[in-house]
Amino acid sequence: MTGPAEPSTDAATIYDAFAQKYRSYSETKSDYLSAVDRLVCEQLNGRAGVVLDYGAGDGVRGANLCEQIAPDAFYQADVSNEMIARCRSLGLAKQVFQVQDPDWSKDLPPLDTVMCLWNVLGHLPDTQSRRALLSELHALLRPGGTLIIDVNNRHYVGYGAFKTVWRRIIDAVKPDYARGDIRFNWAIDGVDFPASGHFFTPAEMRDLLQTAGLTIIKAVAVHYATGDVSENLTRGQLFFAATKSS
Ligand SMILES: C[S@@+](CC[C@H](N)C(=O)[O-])C[C@H]1O[C@@H](n2cnc3c(N)ncnc32)[C@H](O)[C@@H]1O
Repeated sequence: MTGPAEPSTDAATIYDAFAQKYRSYSETKSDYLSAVDRLVCEQLNGRAGVVLDYGAGDGVRGANLCEQIAPDAFYQADVSNEMIARCRSLGLAKQVFQVQDPDWSKDLPPLDTVMCLWNVLGHLPDTQSRRALLSELHALLRPGGTLIIDVNNRHYVGYGAFKTVWRRIIDAVKPDYARGDIRFNWAIDGVDFPASGHFFTPAEMRDLLQTAGLTIIKAVAVHYATGDVSENLTRGQLFFAATKSS
């Protein structure tokens, strides 16, 4: 007999524990992360303006991107105090926010760009909170501003052709975003953290972004191993650029 599922550990606790290993883990994914970074630069094309890196992790990726996108001002935010401390130690962001603080964003000027990179949205526990975050980010953008976001793909063909076809059929015929929720054990330094995450379908992301008031201007997939970019949205991580209407 199985009892009720163990509650999953919150993202702040897990990333506090993982922070020290984060850089070396990140480096194992460099082909795909660099491909996403190239898409970010291409999209912003020298017009990044005032930028918020939301869910910035240890801040290193945002700092490297900064060198290329040359923002007018750069801010970072995260939920993990350990990650925030690492962002602050880089000394690059004008301010680094703890998103759990009430009114954390009150000092931000209207933003030209929000980057929300590497499945930050998939760390939120349910559709309602994901919608709430996208609405919050939408509100922080100035009219005409751009959200750049990438998320894990439930329809990635690399999970097996049969499985992907089946998922695409069931998700089209009987959509239920909760199917993308996963539970797993995250072992960090010998400690087991019951964790959860979310994989998105392309249609779900279209719905979430559009409902938040954003217009999608780019949607591609980035292959998890090679970084190849494809318009076929079964080919890797889902990358979107979306704008707030002016
Ligand atoms: C996979 S890491 C990505 C970090 C960074 N964007 C990058 O690409 O290197 C996910 C980050 O999202 C942060 N995070 C999770 N839930 C969050 C939330 N609700 N608000 C802000 N940050 C969150 C985690 O603490 C972690 O630093």
